[in-house]
Amino acid sequence: MKLPFCLALLFHLIHASHNVTQKIIAAAEADNIDLFTLSFAAEALASIQAIYDVEHIDIPSALANATRVDTHAHVVPPWYQALVPFTGQVPTPDWTLEDHFGFMANNSIGHSVISISAPGSVVYPGSETQSTALARLLNEYLVALVRKVPAHFSFFAVTPLPYTASAITEVRYALGHLGAAGVGLLSNHEGYYLGNSVLKPFFAQLDARNSRKEVVFVHPNGPCMHAANGTLIDANPTVYPEGLVEYYFETTRTFMDLTISQTIINFTSLNWIVPHAGGAFPSVEDRFIDSQPAGVIAASKAAYSTRLFWDAAGPVFPHQVQGLLAYGVSASQLLFGTDYPYARFPYALEIEAIENATFFTATEKADVFEGNSKALFGG
Ligand SMILES: *[C@@H]1O[C@H](CO)[C@@H](O)[C@H](O)[C@H]1NC(C)=O
Ligand SMILES: *[C@@H]1O[C@H](CO)[C@@H](O)[C@H](O)[C@H]1NC(C)=O
Ligand SMILES: *[C@@H]1O[C@H](CO)[C@@H](O)[C@H](O)[C@H]1NC(C)=O
Ligand SMILES: *[C@@H]1O[C@H](CO)[C@@H](O)[C@H](O)[C@H]1NC(C)=O
Ligand SMILES: *[C@@H]1O[C@H](CO)[C@@H](O)[C@H](O)[C@H]1NC(C)=O
Ligand SMILES: *[C@@H]1O[C@H](CO)[C@@H](O)[C@H](O)[C@H]1NC(C)=O
Repeated sequence: MKLPFCLALLFHLIHASHNVTQKIIAAAEADNIDLFTLSFAAEALASIQAIYDVEHIDIPSALANATRVDTHAHVVPPWYQALVPFTGQVPTPDWTLEDHFGFMANNSIGHSVISISAPGSVVYPGSETQSTALARLLNEYLVALVRKVPAHFSFFAVTPLPYTASAITEVRYALGHLGAAGVGLLSNHEGYYLGNSVLKPFFAQLDARNSRKEVVFVHPNGPCMHAANGTLIDANPTVYPEGLVEYYFETTRTFMDLTISQTIINFTSLNWIVPHAGGAFPSVEDRFIDSQPAGVIAASKAAYSTRLFWDAAGPVFPHQVQGLLAYGVSASQLLFGTDYPYARFPYALEIEAIENATFFTATEKADVFEGNSKALFGG
């Protein structure tokens, strides 16, 4: 062997050990996922590699002492924004790591549990291959950020439901290998609300993981339904963007479905994060739950006040949260969340409204901002 060739080989080997792209492709192949079924896979992989390759990340000094935990915060990879130019029928916002850190620093947020907003992997109705590839690329992007700044970020995994076998594989990889803080689900996956029997094998598997109680973060998406010919059609019955109010009804539909199907009470190892302080859910609770057997009512109500955690993203303080508390939810079940960078109202006012709340003690407010999430995630 000629020396220059050996050097070239050595260089290649050293270089390859830093080539995350190859590891990501190999891990996907091992799980039978063809990332290149997506036309933008190479661009996405390059953006992930670029995160690993950054030598120094400028973290604002204010983050060092910031203690709030944001449980509802999103990142928007550039290729995802191009794929999904609208979210809830309004433009998908721009996102940069620098802006996110600036936002955290300005609002005393030391840690954000990042996730992908709606529609996540549900961009290719009917295509398991593409949905699974998209979920994997999004999860690799999320974990790349987390690995760069583990003190400040953790993540909820994107889950390619309604394809339960693929979703189980993805969750095994994300929770077991990438160290995700929990799984992110949508209010409906291709028209299947979360209590649908089609999804039961997924929850059974997640519940059966012995390591710890898994956290399921639910995010609302647009209402949709199956037409008679099986096609998925948009079901927003109003002239208003889905993100405006439909999301509140979506959260309601899916937690009602999770309750009546008994998914919540049967799978006792799951903790749930209900977005936006429950959306419209609490106000329909007494009405629908009455139709259930007494044992289901009692067990569901017990679960609502122990295994359901309600995030405070949006203008939910003071009125909506006071309503929620009237249903027996305690301050210890509330989690701070912002919906950054998707919210259309000022974050500063949202936070000020928590600080101003006359119905909570200073300790309870501190728990909403940080203590409750630290207890939930064991941080
Ligand atoms: C890393 O591996 C990928 C896939 O084999 C390849 O396309 C890319 O050029 C490699 N990058 C570097 C910097 O070697
Ligand atoms: C963080 O807190 C430490 C200890 O109280 C203090 O010395 C340091 O100046 C603070 N840093 C910032 C950026 O506020
Ligand atoms: C943080 O606050 C500074 C100073 O008020 C402001 O210039 C900046 O735009 C804010 N950054 C974000 C992301 O909100
Ligand atoms: C299925 O039905 C929907 C709603 O009626 C319609 O918009 C769509 O074009 C139909 N698709 C096919 C493939 O026939
Ligand atoms: C929960 O258990 C009940 C009774 O044991 C059963 O009827 C129901 O189908 C189960 N639901 C789910 C989602 O497992
Ligand atoms: C919080 O209270 C202050 C002082 O009473 C008031 O000026 C401010 O408008 C309140 N903010 C919100 C968002 O309620």
